[in-house]
Amino acid sequence: MKKDLLAINDFNREEILALFEKSEDLKEKRQKGIQHLPLKGKTLGMIFNKHSTRTRISFEVGMFELGGHALFLTGDQLQLNRGETIRDSAQVLSRYLNGILIRTYDHQEVVALAEHASIPVINGLTDFNHPLQILSDIFTIKEKLGHIEGVKVAYVGDGNNVAYSWMTGASLMGMNLVIACPKSLKPNPAPGLGDHGNVEIVEDPFEAVQNADVIYTDVWISMGDEEDTEKKKKLLLPYQINQKLVDSAKKDVLVMHCLPAHREMEITSEVLDGEHSIVFDQAENRLHVQKAILETLLLS
Ligand code: CP
Ligand code: NVA
Repeated sequence: MKKDLLAINDFNREEILALFEKSEDLKEKRQKGIQHLPLKGKTLGMIFNKHSTRTRISFEVGMFELGGHALFLTGDQLQLNRGETIRDSAQVLSRYLNGILIRTYDHQEVVALAEHASIPVINGLTDFNHPLQILSDIFTIKEKLGHIEGVKVAYVGDGNNVAYSWMTGASLMGMNLVIACPKSLKPNPAPGLGDHGNVEIVEDPFEAVQNADVIYTDVWISMGDEEDTEKKKKLLLPYQINQKLVDSAKKDVLVMHCLPAHREMEITSEVLDGEHSIVFDQAENRLHVQKAILETLLLS
């Protein structure tokens, strides 16, 4: 039976650990220049209704490196955005492709696509969550710290789609997540993201980063949220990841950002380019983890 990735909890803990082992292996193969072409003859359609640098490019390169082919499809060039139903589109795409990656606004569109497609559907970010990002980020944490369980992550900033996926991922993998955000921007995930057992929500960023192994942030203004820009900027100013906040945390704390960063807004350049930051290793790992996801889903 086909398997989709719409939210992190579409995988269980053991499956995620297996995915990480595969990611490690694929990363090593790439570093050593060993060719590995398990997806020869396979094709991935990539539907983007929002901008992307990392997700789009890492999937396209990933498919190429695994021997397959990726098609970049913008929503406004498909009949889908001219009224063809998701159901019909899903059935047609399933006749041509071996998998679909989709980045869009409404999560329910992705759910419907998965329901009507007979091939795996991968969520490349919706307003509801960003599972690929957090799976890859947990892999990066494992790589840097050697373990996952018990790691404390302080997510500081907007209670958005990335925060929602963190809530699912941290609970599933036995991590301790503290989210620091203004009261009015508290994450309010819709049902379906699994258990949120290990998550604490506070208002004080300095409290959140105490004893944290990782300080994590994301943009203040997500794609589609532009009309709230001025209001959010004001509310989130005390939640900036700056040197003062980092200095108040553990000496060896890691700083992560899913990128794109808005320098001097949610994070200062001093921190982003500083000794605690692992953001570019984090970005690179999107490629390795997604290749493992592609191999797992497209060959199942
Ligand atoms: N972090 C992330 O998903 O980046 P893109 O929006 O560039 O794909
Ligand atoms: N929360 C951001 C993440 C971008 C990768 C957004 O949805 O725009």
